[in-house]
Amino acid sequence: MRPASLARSAVWAATRPSRTFQVARPLRFFSIKAEAASDSKQKGLDPSKLTITESPSPKQLSQPETLVFGREFTDHMLAIEWTQDNGWLDPKITPYQNLSLDPATCVFHYAFECFEGMKAYKDKNGKIRLFRPDKNMARLNKSAARIALPTFEPTSFVELIKKFTKLDSRFIPSQRGYSLYLRPTMIGTQKTLGVGPPGSALLYVIASPVGPYYPTGFKAISLEATDYAVRAWPGGVGDKKLGANYAPCIVPQLQAASRGYQQNLWLFGEEEYVTEVGTMNMFVVLKDKQTGQKELITAPLDGTILEGVTRDSVLALARERLIPEGWKVTERKYTMRELDEASQEGRLVEAFGAGTAAIVSPIRKIAWKGKHVDCGLKETEESGETALRVKEWIEAIQYGEEEHEWSVQVD
Ligand SMILES: Cc1ncc(COP(=O)(O)O)c(C=O)c1O
Repeated sequence: MRPASLARSAVWAATRPSRTFQVARPLRFFSIKAEAASDSKQKGLDPSKLTITESPSPKQLSQPETLVFGREFTDHMLAIEWTQDNGWLDPKITPYQNLSLDPATCVFHYAFECFEGMKAYKDKNGKIRLFRPDKNMARLNKSAARIALPTFEPTSFVELIKKFTKLDSRFIPSQRGYSLYLRPTMIGTQKTLGVGPPGSALLYVIASPVGPYYPTGFKAISLEATDYAVRAWPGGVGDKKLGANYAPCIVPQLQAASRGYQQNLWLFGEEEYVTEVGTMNMFVVLKDKQTGQKELITAPLDGTILEGVTRDSVLALARERLIPEGWKVTERKYTMRELDEASQEGRLVEAFGAGTAAIVSPIRKIAWKGKHVDCGLKETEESGETALRVKEWIEAIQYGEEEHEWSVQVD
């Protein structure tokens, strides 16, 4: 029952005395059902409810040198179901297994899928470490929210990932450069062809042991600037890690490969702003025309750039360690024209991609408008000095050689 005073006030605003003429509109009540909203609170992710079913047939470990990215998986997987009515159900670690989904499941039709890429490392004392897992959790939550999938409490999910990683830790090779690639994934699982928010979802994690991206040392790559397709645009979803962002990037990559380039470089707009390289963030080092001051540049997070964990780490370390050496470290827009001009004037010192897979990937040249833009490496060099230094800084933290708050111990 509504109190009389409330019922009385639910009349048309125009019936109230007023000196000026007003357009009739209903008064609006806020929080009428506040108590109902608090009743329907969904269950959050609860790591204390985890059950573990160990695999009855543990796999044989491969020789680390033979590992190919994303081909082999560990014994187990972590999975947590969500339903609109009940929230997050009890987490489960089970033997690695197929999923069974109805052909009408919404993930297959409308791409309700987002994912993360992160790694677990073994340090020289055999301890397992994660690198900035909070960043991956924040990004996954942003991606999920953008496609109407549920979000979760980040520290609870990290706790579960730690338990999963520990259980399968025998798969992490101990040599530097090797790691266990973790793939948290969320999919909409409702069986419906109706286009709407999924009423159920599955959050799961699988893991794959991986070797170094460049097993025999850096190999500088050549890029083709793509001018006929765009990866991301303002107001789009290129800053989210949605599976739907990746499939359309394969054809431009194949085209670049067919002309002898290892990756394509994504440009945006008539200005030909440089955005990302393949599935990495792009960094360049330019020398100032007048002063000769070195500037480390990457594109700003304007909605077209994925918020790379490596990107953020490179920026933070460069601000801490390069600025005292007289460098400028800048997040700003820059164009192919600017790179070309700098290259011709000998001011393009180096260029590299940055991402979890390789940490850094040095770039030799960029094919653009029928010519090659030289990115500053000598013919005999496979990496510039900055890319080498950055890789060393980040690896030292990842493998626990340098104690740092970014490296989170699992046990
Ligand atoms: C489009 C894109 N940009 C950048 C990155 C690098 O991000 P991170 O450093 O978090 O691996 C990735 C890798 O996941 C990516 O897919």
